[in-house]
Amino acid sequence: MSWASRFRELEDDCRRAPSAHNTQPWLPQYTSDSIDIHWDPARALPDSDPTRRDLFLSLGAFVETSLIVAASAGLPVRAEIAVDHATLRAARLLPAPEVYDTPFTVESVRQRRCARGGYAPGTLDPQTLAGLGADLRQVPTRELAGPLAEADRWMFGTPAVVDELRAWMRLSPKHPRYHLDGLTDRAMALSRVEATGLAAMIGPRAYRLTRRLGGPALLAAASKGLLRYDGSVLILVGSAVTPEAVIAHGRELVRVWLALSERGLHVHPLSQLLDCAATSARLAARLDLAPDESPLAVFRTGRPLDTPVRSARIPAA
Ligand SMILES: Cc1cc2nc3c(=O)[nH]c(=O)nc-3n(C[C@H](O)[C@H](O)[C@H](O)COP(=O)(O)O)c2cc1C
Repeated sequence: MSWASRFRELEDDCRRAPSAHNTQPWLPQYTSDSIDIHWDPARALPDSDPTRRDLFLSLGAFVETSLIVAASAGLPVRAEIAVDHATLRAARLLPAPEVYDTPFTVESVRQRRCARGGYAPGTLDPQTLAGLGADLRQVPTRELAGPLAEADRWMFGTPAVVDELRAWMRLSPKHPRYHLDGLTDRAMALSRVEATGLAAMIGPRAYRLTRRLGGPALLAAASKGLLRYDGSVLILVGSAVTPEAVIAHGRELVRVWLALSERGLHVHPLSQLLDCAATSARLAARLDLAPDESPLAVFRTGRPLDTPVRSARIPAA
């Protein structure tokens, strides 16, 4: 059996990689001597993610997850990161002389999940933070409660961003893609009543009216309590001068999330803080960054009060 055929058998685990809105933008294409990782433009988020920061972070997460899964199966694979905008290729997986060196296993990949419900109070201790191996800045949750409400008002008040959110939300188990991709009511930790209310407010026709009648402020108010406890928000900082650099940070991001997960700590990304220009600029100003650095990912982390749900994935073809 060729190394590529062996890899193909592992693809479902590689697909456990996280991606913004759970769009799973990766398209692995098997050639005779490599597995080329392309992206599907229909699974990018041009309005919520105009700089493609989250697209390339997600592709990086897929590459790193693939290397971990292959290593766990004893399959020597390496990645060459080179973005080709003409063919929408982000990276190539190639046979390697040695198994990828990683502390993580396929079990780590299967265990990791985002948790968007309540978290027990408690901040990350400096030793754990230092051991995560990335440029991470810690900010107390309460400090970002106000900015998060502002970012949520911007998000729910921006029609193109809401259109994309609506397209990827699966607010009822009856949604035909509920088990395949996107953000389910359960993954978003919404009760049936909350999911029904959200669907009603941002439904394509109702939204035109609710937007003018203060719907965005109401929706933002719903998430107000999210950061009103004593916990940790981590900000991954780095240089994002090229798509390749962002992919490298996506690999780093998934390693951080896996390392946290192995300590029983889960994450809840809050990318709207970076997508909203006003809150992003204030956050960057607070972080004392080098000239080429920017905040690339923001997420709260801690011990969730409830077991986080396993998110949907498209099975390998
Ligand atoms: C780059 C990136 C940005 C993300 N941004 C958000 C976000 O702003 N809010 C959120 O709730 N989840 C966010 N997520 C988490 C994804 O929605 C999540 O990975 C996906 O739904 C799959 O779920 P899982 O990670 O539990 O497997 C982000 C993930 C990535 C990789």
